[in-house]
Amino acid sequence: MPQYAVSSDRLPALLQAMPKAELHIHIEGSLEPELIFALAQRNGVQLAYSSVEALRAAYAFTDLQSFLDIYYAGASVLLKEDDFHDMAWAYLTKAAAENVLHTELFFDPQTHTERGVSFETVIKGLSRACDRARAELGVDATLIMCFLRHLSEEDAIKTLEASLPWRDLFIGVGLDSSERGHPPEKFTQVFARCRELGLHVVAHAGEEGPAQYIINALDILKVERIDHGVRCVEDAALVKRLAAEGMPLTVCPLSNVKLCVFKTMADHNLKTLLDAGLKVTINSDDPAYFGGYLNQNFLETFAGLGLDADAAYTLARNSFEASFATDEAKAGWIARLDATFASFTAAA
Ligand code: ADE
Ligand code: ZN
Repeated sequence: MPQYAVSSDRLPALLQAMPKAELHIHIEGSLEPELIFALAQRNGVQLAYSSVEALRAAYAFTDLQSFLDIYYAGASVLLKEDDFHDMAWAYLTKAAAENVLHTELFFDPQTHTERGVSFETVIKGLSRACDRARAELGVDATLIMCFLRHLSEEDAIKTLEASLPWRDLFIGVGLDSSERGHPPEKFTQVFARCRELGLHVVAHAGEEGPAQYIINALDILKVERIDHGVRCVEDAALVKRLAAEGMPLTVCPLSNVKLCVFKTMADHNLKTLLDAGLKVTINSDDPAYFGGYLNQNFLETFAGLGLDADAAYTLARNSFEASFATDEAKAGWIARLDATFASFTAAA
């Protein structure tokens, strides 16, 4: 028996109106081509593309690496504190309009420090945008620093050291970039140190890499969430374990289709994961590159997989429960979620 009777024609409005959290968004992946060109002009950076249209036309990816090459090139226009602020502010205003109440933004400091931009410049710009979002938009925005897994653990340790003067400005660490050939255990020491420092720990695993990478992220890095994790279905015992532990998966449906993890949205395994009792959330990953922000991910996933209002409630609730916010904040957001569902059900 469905708990929430909402007709299919009103489901898109519910998906957009419902309060939600976004837990897997790379802020550099929110850089729209228009902003890339504006920042290139502002900073005198030469781009390999002649126009916004030419850049957008290059967004035809065949796998994760084909995307990452363009994503890192796009980030080359970010030089000054204001650039980082403006990028994050653009995302946060969109998030507010999509009823995102809480977000945990990934950022990749090594992408910038490698080019001579200081950690201080990056974190100050991003954190100023987060402060503004809390004050002006009512969006609770926090930061998670990611280590690039194609670089060495030594490089990650240096990055962690450089971040320590700003330890209070981010809540956790993650692991991203090229997954295949760069297993979680490559970062055992740095993650142990991060846990000692009281940072939250998450990692991309099972996006392109095998189910074993998910197991190693859990057992060796001791992560609190798995980013992506869709390849867990290749190991039935792992699926059971994830369900039993209530381990959140931050799934990114449009990203998975764009990067050819699944051929079409109808082929995506998100419904299988939900049906297996996993704590699934929906996220946008790199919205400027993958064809849509969070609500577009909800709309296309629900249309492609025929999901209903009960699934919408579960996914939105999971997004709050899986966040690193306080229990008090979570309870307040879930009360707002309940009120939205009550109003949609009453009006049915
Ligand atoms: N960095 C930005 N987006 C990513 C993704 N989908 N996987 C791994 N690293 C990333
Ligand atoms: Zn990601």
